[in-house]
Amino acid sequence: MAEIRVNSLSVAGADLHLELSGGGSRRARLTRALREAVREGRLAPGTRLPPYRSLATDLGLARNTVAEAYAELVAEGWLVARQGSGTSVAPRAAARVPRPRPARSVPAPRPALSLVQGQPDAGSFPRAAWAAAARRALNAAPNEAFGPGDPRGRVELRRALADYLGRARGVRTDPERIVVCAGFAHALRLLSGGNGPLRGTLAVEAYGLPFHRGILAGAGLRTLPLPVDEHGARTDLLAGAKDVRAALLTPAHQFPTGGPLDPRRRAAAVDWARAGSGRILLEDDYDGEFRYDRQPVGAVQGLDPERVVYLGSVSKSLSPAVRVGWMVLPGHMVDDVLALKGEREAWTGVTDQLALADFLGSGAYDRHVRRMRQHYRDRRDRLVALLAERAPHLGVSGIAAGLHAVLRLPHGTEESVVRAAARRGLSLEGLAPYRHPESTGEAYDGLVIGYATPPDHAFASALDTLCRTLPALP
Ligand SMILES: Cc1ncc(COP(=O)(O)O)c(C=O)c1O
Repeated sequence: MAEIRVNSLSVAGADLHLELSGGGSRRARLTRALREAVREGRLAPGTRLPPYRSLATDLGLARNTVAEAYAELVAEGWLVARQGSGTSVAPRAAARVPRPRPARSVPAPRPALSLVQGQPDAGSFPRAAWAAAARRALNAAPNEAFGPGDPRGRVELRRALADYLGRARGVRTDPERIVVCAGFAHALRLLSGGNGPLRGTLAVEAYGLPFHRGILAGAGLRTLPLPVDEHGARTDLLAGAKDVRAALLTPAHQFPTGGPLDPRRRAAAVDWARAGSGRILLEDDYDGEFRYDRQPVGAVQGLDPERVVYLGSVSKSLSPAVRVGWMVLPGHMVDDVLALKGEREAWTGVTDQLALADFLGSGAYDRHVRRMRQHYRDRRDRLVALLAERAPHLGVSGIAAGLHAVLRLPHGTEESVVRAAARRGLSLEGLAPYRHPESTGEAYDGLVIGYATPPDHAFASALDTLCRTLPALP
C-alpha cells in the first residue's frame, strides 16, 4: 500500500493525505483516492487541484497518469476543468453527509431562563485581560515550555499559585507540593481511581454534588454521609465512623447549603485526621474567593498541611470551561499522585497554564475576583431584596458567600415548584438531587438558586419568574 503525503495540494496551502491503496493501475489508484477525498469532503467544492506536473512529482507518478486521472474525474463530474484556471473540485461534488441523528441521551432543550447553580456569569469572562496575559506569557516562556510537559504542571504556575493561595486563602505550601490538574473533578478521579490513595469508605457531606458522588461510586468507593446543619458538616461524628480514612469537605462554604464550617468542627476534622495513621481530609475550596459580608474563611489546610489535600480550580472564579485546577498535597503524597497522573495523559495544556500563571502574577486575577465579588454581591442583594418583598415567608440562607443561595420551601412543595418554574421557562433545581441517598439527617425542601448564571439582560426576568412561581403566603 502506498501512503503518500502531498504537501501543497490546495491553493489555500492545506495538506492533503492521499492513500493510493488497493489494486489496479497507478492511474486507477490515484483516481480512486481523489474521488474518495472529494466524496468525503476532504477536498471541498471549489478547491483548486495542483497542476499535473507538481502532483506527479509529489507522488512519483508520470505527468500523464495525473492528467488521465483528472480527465476521468472531470468526465464523472467530480472535478471541473477551466481553460486557464486549471482543475478544481466541482461546486457540488461532495456527497451530502447526512446529519447524525441526535443521540437518545441528548438533553431536551433547556428553558430560556436559568437559575441553576454551577457556573459563574459566562458573560463576564475577562477576555481582554486573559488574552493579554496569554500573549505576555507566551512571549516570555522558554522554548522548553513547549517540550514534553512536567506532570506537576508548569513551574511558573505552581509558583504563582503558592503565592496566591498563601496570601488569599491561608494555604501553607511551596510550589513543589502543588500538582496542576484539569479541575476538581479530575483531581477526584485521580485520587479515587485504581492505585489512588482513597480506598474503602470515604466520609462526605450529606448534601453535595451528585456528580462528585458518582465519581467516587464509579471508582468503587463507598460514601458515608455526614449530616449537615447551619454550622456545616458534623465532623464531630467522624471519630465514631468505622473504617473511614478520608473525608471530603467544603469548609469555606458548604455545598450547597451555604454555611462555613464552624471553627470547632474544623478543629474536630483535623483532630480526627491526626488521630489515625494514613487519615486525610480533602478540602474542596471551590468558591473560597467569593465571600461578601465578612473576612474570607481561610483554608483548613493551613491548620495541618500534612493531613489535608487542598483542591481548587478556576471554575467559579473564571470559567469551568478553562479546566485548570490544583492539588496542594501533603509532602508524602506528591510522588504517588504524580505517578497517578501518568505520562502524556489528559493534563491541562501548557498555554492555559502559562496564561494563568501570568494572570495571577500580574494581579489580573485579583482585579477580576474583586470585580466579580462586587458583581455577585449586587446580584445577591437584588435577589435577597426581591425575596424579602415578594416572598417574605420563605427563608433564604447561604448568602454570605459563593454564587448561589438556598431558599427554604414549605414541606412537600419542592418538586412542584421546580416543575412550575420549568413550565414558565425557568430552570431551577431543588435540594433533593444534592442529598446523599443514604442520608438519615433532616431533609428539607428548598431551591438552590444560582444567581451568577443568567446573563445580565435576563437576570431581572429570571428573578421575576422565580417569585411568580413560589408558593404564596400560607
Ligand atoms: C462543590 C463543587 N466543587 C468543585 C467544583 C469545581 O469543579 P471543577 O473544578 O471540576 O469544575 C464545583 C463547581 O464549580 C463545585 O460546585
